[in-house]
Amino acid sequence: MNSRAIRFFHRGQVVSVEGAAPTRTVLDWLREDARCSGTKEGCNEGDCGACTVVVGELAAPGDAAAVRGLSLRTVNACIQFLPTLDGKALFTVEDLKDIAGGALHPAQQAMVDCHGSQCGFCTPGFVMSLWSAYEHHSACASTPSRQQLADELSGNLCRCTGYRPILDAGQRMFEQPRAEFDTAPVIAALRSLQRAESLVYGAAFHAPRTLDELATLRAAKPQAKILAGSTDMGLWVTKGLRDLGELIHVGEVAELKQIEERDGMLHIGSAASLEDAWRALAARWPALEDVWLRFASPPIRNAGTMGGNVANGSPIGDSPPVLMALAARIVLRQGARVRTMALRDFYVDYMKNRLEPGEFVQGIEVPLPQPGWQMRAYKISKRFDCDISALCGGLALQLADDGTVAGVRLAFGGMAATVRHAERAEAAVLGKPWTQASVDAAKAALGEDFEPLTDMRASAEYRLQVARNLLQRFWLETRRENPLPASALSVWSVMPHQTNLKEPA
Ligand SMILES: Cc1cc2nc3c(=O)[nH]c(=O)nc-3n(C[C@H](O)[C@H](O)[C@H](O)COP(=O)(O)OP(=O)(O)OC[C@H]3O[C@@H](n4cnc5c(N)ncnc54)[C@H](O)[C@@H]3O)c2cc1C
Ligand code: FES
Ligand code: FES
Repeated sequence: MNSRAIRFFHRGQVVSVEGAAPTRTVLDWLREDARCSGTKEGCNEGDCGACTVVVGELAAPGDAAAVRGLSLRTVNACIQFLPTLDGKALFTVEDLKDIAGGALHPAQQAMVDCHGSQCGFCTPGFVMSLWSAYEHHSACASTPSRQQLADELSGNLCRCTGYRPILDAGQRMFEQPRAEFDTAPVIAALRSLQRAESLVYGAAFHAPRTLDELATLRAAKPQAKILAGSTDMGLWVTKGLRDLGELIHVGEVAELKQIEERDGMLHIGSAASLEDAWRALAARWPALEDVWLRFASPPIRNAGTMGGNVANGSPIGDSPPVLMALAARIVLRQGARVRTMALRDFYVDYMKNRLEPGEFVQGIEVPLPQPGWQMRAYKISKRFDCDISALCGGLALQLADDGTVAGVRLAFGGMAATVRHAERAEAAVLGKPWTQASVDAAKAALGEDFEPLTDMRASAEYRLQVARNLLQRFWLETRRENPLPASALSVWSVMPHQTNLKEPA
């Protein structure tokens, strides 16, 4: 197949790019090539949100991010590679003036009115996150609560203004005269860009469109790197200054983005976004909402995939402990061969897994909630929002009628070279009454299960102590007699200065 230019919709027209490196970031292209310097560079690693832009695609049926036929999602331009924009629309802060008919957009006007900006460096990023919230809430005739806004802005950092005026602006923008975003011309342009064939860009970037094409290409190019949402790999370029060589992008394979219930399982395609995958998990296990909303930030969850999180296999990744506690299986594909294995068997050592050359992750299968099982997930990090875990626990338990433990799965990240089960702690409670004495035995056994590391996130002693505390919390929430309600354990209810972020019950 011949190489062709990348084509996408930007500032009211279709642009064509040739010759840029496949790992050129959207941010560098915007600022240096397109001379649109409204989008800022802060950290260059997805953390600060100064580079927040919105990517538009034709909405698929049931797309949670759909706005009048267009799927709109914030992403961090600093770690998004340019060829991944092919066939999509890119919106930046420069677009808002046109959308608002030449005036300030309500998101911008509200920031002015509420004094939401001081040095202004973070402001374009905040404004783009606010615009995304504005469109999504307007599309379903809702307005966000203060807590929802705080969650939606959790990927944007401001170091001078403080968040109260910015949250005020997020609420005030809905009181401004409405700025109607006409999606029709964008949809028409995106339709004109639709192509059946795969993208080959230069010698080093391939974006197959079907699963079979991907499987064939991957088998033929086992040395190439699989690229999904680039929320890990982007940093290999911007911070590690690495040459990634040949890339196979999985983000255009529609089959890999599907999430569906089938045969008693929730099937999550490996290229489904983290946002969609966590939404689907939390809809079935509501106790997962906290970990969902505290996994990175909306722009990272929009770009990143659950397949990438699992394949990357970081010992501090948040999906693996939760998925292991849910007894998930991983589906691996190599050419025509498909094999599955329990996720707990997938990791062999630090950042090493059982993927064979030419193989890739096709999806994750999660058994649907079973009667009698209780599930919790706890994330511990230095900062509440948008932070990598010091440790993360996925804990599941089934109690028999007589109150003994009939089934248990206790999986932890941040405690060893890989995410793994606490097998001795599990053995300590299995078949025993679910009492304080059993939990104490499990807590003691955790010291045999794990010898955690001390690093910049936490000391070994802290990690072990916190893992024990999480077991205690799990017992308090799930014991037969007098289980504690979520409100008794929520951080919000014990941090009075934060409670103004929560809507009254
Ligand atoms: C600011 C920031 C905050 C973050 N916060 C969190 C957090 O709170 N919790 C957390 O767990 N992680 C976090 N991460 C890490 C990252 O977002 C996740 O690991 C994410 O899931 C990676 O997915 P991706 O699609 O972006 O993968 P990519 O970066 O595209 O790829 C990651 C790795 O997976 C491989 N890969 C991807 N897809 C496949 C596939 N289908 N088959 C085989 N191999 C594949 C790639 O080759 C690469 O080795 C954060 C990252 C950033 C930048
Ligand atoms: S520059 Fe900080 S998130 Fe992109
Ligand atoms: S206004 Fe200065 S960083 Fe936000």
